[in-house]
Amino acid sequence: MKLETERLILRPVTGDDAGGNYHEWLNDPEVVKYMEDRFYPADQESIKKYIETTANALDKYFFAVCLKASPQLYKIPIGAHIGNVLLGPIPKVHRYAEVSYTFHRSYWGNGYATEAVKAVVNFAFVHLDLERLNAGTSETNIPSQNVLKKAGFTREGAFRKFYWMPTGREDRVIWGQLKSEYHKV
Ligand SMILES: CC(C)(COP(=O)(O)OP(=O)(O)OC[C@H]1O[C@@H](n2cnc3c(N)ncnc32)[C@H](O)[C@@H]1OP(=O)(O)O)[C@@H](O)C(=O)NCCC(=O)NCCS
Repeated sequence: MKLETERLILRPVTGDDAGGNYHEWLNDPEVVKYMEDRFYPADQESIKKYIETTANALDKYFFAVCLKASPQLYKIPIGAHIGNVLLGPIPKVHRYAEVSYTFHRSYWGNGYATEAVKAVVNFAFVHLDLERLNAGTSETNIPSQNVLKKAGFTREGAFRKFYWMPTGREDRVIWGQLKSEYHKV
C-alpha cells in the first residue's frame, strides 16, 4: 500500500529500512523520550525483527514516510526515510485503529508528521472504512498533541498517572476521531 501527499510518499516499512535514518532516530534520546523502553537502545537486528513482526501483522499498516524530490530540499537526499506511521492493530469486528508515529529529529518542525498523519487518517476512513481512530500521548508531548489536533482528532480524556517519566508520572491523554467527523482536514 502506497500513499502520496504533496511532499511525501508513504510506503510499507521493510527490513532494509532498519539501518540509516531509522537506526539513528531510535537511538536518539529526544526522539524515544515518550516511547517504551523496548525500543532503546535499538540495534539494527532488533529493529529488523520489530519491522518484520509489525509489517507481517495482518491487522496493521506500517508506513515509512519518505521525502519526495523538491527544489527546496536540495540538501536532503531524495527519498529520505524520515519517519514512520503505524495504523493498527485493527480489530475486525469493532473497526477502529490505533495511530502512532515517530520522526527523525532533523526533520521536525516542517509539518511532515501532520501531513503524513492526515494521509493515514484519510486512508483509514475512506479506503478501510473504519469507524474510529485512537491515539494516546503523554501530557507533556505537545508536538504530538498538535499533530493530532491538526489531523482532526479530539481530546477525549486521560488515563491518570499512566506513564513513568524521569520527572514524575504523567497522564496518558486519549484522542479520538470518528468517521462521521472526518472531513478531509
Ligand atoms: C511528535 C512528532 C512526530 C512531530 O513531528 P513533526 O514533523 O515535527 O510535526 P509537525 O512539523 O507536523 O509539527 C507538529 C507540531 O509540533 C510542534 N513542534 C515541532 N517541532 C518542535 C520542536 N522542536 N519543539 C517544540 N515543538 C515542536 C509544533 O508546535 C507543531 O505544531 P504547530 O505547527 O501548530 O506549531 C515528532 O516530534 C516526534 O517524532 N517526536 C518523538 C516521537 C513521538 O513523540 N511520537 C508520538 C508519540 S504519541
